[in-house]
Amino acid sequence: MNFFTGKNKDSGTNISELRIPAHVAIIMDGNGRWAKKRGMPRTFGHTQGARVAETILEDASDLGIRYLTLYAFSTENWSRPEAEVNALMNLLRKYMQSSLEKCARNNVRVRVIGERSVLAKDLQESIEVLERATASNTGIGFQIAINYGGRDEIVRAIKRASGEGLLTDPAAITEDMINGHLDTAGIPDPDLLIRTCGEQRISNFLLWQLAYSEFYFTDKAWPEFDKAELEKAIEAYNHRERRYGGLKA
Ligand code: IPE
Ligand code: IPE
Ligand code: MG
Repeated sequence: MNFFTGKNKDSGTNISELRIPAHVAIIMDGNGRWAKKRGMPRTFGHTQGARVAETILEDASDLGIRYLTLYAFSTENWSRPEAEVNALMNLLRKYMQSSLEKCARNNVRVRVIGERSVLAKDLQESIEVLERATASNTGIGFQIAINYGGRDEIVRAIKRASGEGLLTDPAAITEDMINGHLDTAGIPDPDLLIRTCGEQRISNFLLWQLAYSEFYFTDKAWPEFDKAELEKAIEAYNHRERRYGGLKA
């Protein structure tokens, strides 16, 4: 972004003229490769990635994005070496604590999605503290996906509905009912999904919710993602025509 003109130097488009997606979801990928390229351990990439997550939350809020969902740890990520899993869990611990004051001050409403019951007790507690402390905030809705898998979320949603006796009448099984039992209940589906570092797959993220999202892939690794990159993604989004199966408006 050019400071004087407010224009994006790659395109000449002014961000203030763009349609801002209400909900942006991001698969923050490439921490390990970014670190390795610099001769550093993978965990160095995760530390830097956590910093970027904090600044992107502020940037998203500044741009007027209403919901931001970040994929922090998947149900499949447990298969990584124990030392890396531990390092990621420790970073999440720190993140919950450093976010507490910041999110409260910046009017951010935090919700952690994913199966949290298998996380360490202290981490579960700091998640609850953070959610409770920010629950009545009215600014950006910030979802952090931890031990999250799209398939696991759907299975848990169905179990929850079953526990409430909602599966006995087939007529009561509707998309709205399933939607309302997902971890993201009440949150609109993502308009834009961003994945960093070149891979073009969704890796079990928000399988249900991404039904009609626009996808944006960049080769930039997550630790080097910034506000200008976010603006580029939003600009690309503005060139998409969302038809939802219908015809051109
Ligand atoms: C994303 O970076 C962070 C997590 C998945 C937790 P990676 O750790 O996947 O980095 P790469 O893809 O191996 O470079
Ligand atoms: C997806 O990245 C999970 C997160 C960003 C938390 P991965 O690096 O785990 O995905 P794959 O293994 O490349 O599909
Ligand atoms: Mg990866």
